[in-house]
Amino acid sequence: MVTSNSPNAVERENLDGKVAVITGASKGIGKATASAFAAAGGKVVLAARTRETLEQVAADLQESGAEALAIPTDVTDVDAVQRLIERTLDVYQRVDILVNNAGVGYFGPVSDFEPDDWDMVLNSNLKAIYLCAKYALPPMLAQGSGQIINVLSIAAKVAFEASAAYCAAKAGALALTKVLASEVRQQNIRVTAVLPGSVHTPFWDGVPEHPDFEQMLKPEHVADTIVSVCGQPSGMVTEEIVVMPPLGIL
Ligand SMILES: NC(=O)c1ccc[n+]([C@@H]2O[C@H](COP(=O)([O-])OP(=O)(O)OC[C@H]3O[C@@H](n4cnc5c(N)ncnc54)[C@H](OP(=O)(O)O)[C@@H]3O)[C@@H](O)[C@H]2O)c1
Repeated sequence: MVTSNSPNAVERENLDGKVAVITGASKGIGKATASAFAAAGGKVVLAARTRETLEQVAADLQESGAEALAIPTDVTDVDAVQRLIERTLDVYQRVDILVNNAGVGYFGPVSDFEPDDWDMVLNSNLKAIYLCAKYALPPMLAQGSGQIINVLSIAAKVAFEASAAYCAAKAGALALTKVLASEVRQQNIRVTAVLPGSVHTPFWDGVPEHPDFEQMLKPEHVADTIVSVCGQPSGMVTEEIVVMPPLGIL
């Protein structure tokens, strides 16, 4: 057996004091991820569009003793993303971790799907990852280290009916993740795609036909996975991780 005292043991990264920018942090997986980072001692920068909910999440974390900063941001908007990173640097002078989690689900068969809805789904789930990575990378490169976690979906790999825009966005985001990983691996920046199955979050509000909520993952399961990946020892990278409810795709 290898124990922590063994010469073969590897040391996990200490997340204490690390600055983590988390998009979509006002609800669901992003909110749970912010909590999990804060519990690990991280300084969390929270981004989402709705100021009131975002500020409430930050206030709750601050009340529990964490360092949390709410920066209302539409991650599809280039100027807003630039401001998010600039403000983070003003306050914390670094960006250690970027969790690209913001996303929306909007569903319907191709023949009925409106072009504006297509753009909205692609912009939120795909373009936003490019924008946030583009502006978070310069400080990471200057620091000589960083981690980018892209929360995608099993829909990146599986064709779900009435989900063409969502599946296309997530599959595109998986391709983007792989290209990004190969572009920055020499600079000590680790990039990971997390592909969850169904998670019980507000994502499903307004989706009339949904899997059984009781059988879904909890947002905390995905959050725990993300924080665990960020704490992995240097000298390794988890490039892709699929997180499923025990009963599989529901
Ligand atoms: N729930 C699932 O079953 C499931 C499964 C696999 C993958 N995922 C993926 O996991 C991620 C998080 O999903 P979730 O289930 O936690 O969803 P959620 O509960 O609906 O939360 C989505 C978050 O993203 C934010 N957001 C949406 N559009 C945004 C924009 N343009 N700019 C900034 N923030 C934006 C929302 O806040 P505002 O509306 O205030 O901006 C909210 O904080 C998404 O990428 C989703 O595709 C979810």
